[in-house]
Amino acid sequence: MSSPTLIFKKRPIVLLQGEPLLLWNWQQQPQTLLQVLEAKKVRIFSECRSGYCGCCRTKIRSGSVRYLIEPLAELAPDECLPCCCVPNDDLDLELSCNGAEMPLLREKQHA
Ligand code: FES
Repeated sequence: MSSPTLIFKKRPIVLLQGEPLLLWNWQQQPQTLLQVLEAKKVRIFSECRSGYCGCCRTKIRSGSVRYLIEPLAELAPDECLPCCCVPNDDLDLELSCNGAEMPLLREKQHA
């Protein structure tokens, strides 16, 4: 008889242009990627917030997302709609760090 196998999935890291922004927490962050980015003061334009208009279209530098609702806006393979997705694994986005609450970046600037 074999013992049960436990599978642990690492919590995804969300990065902006290679700078770590946060460690995704499934329990504390049942929101969309857009809601979490906005809470961290990341500037990102949005309108419908439901995957319809495509306004929040964001380039993915590396990583992948999964959609909470199926988006209607057309996307290139390296784009995502933060208003209706969550990170699937470590996710580096082509978004500016300017004005964002990035604890690791702040520590670097004061060092
Ligand atoms: S805000 Fe409309 S698709 Fe994201």
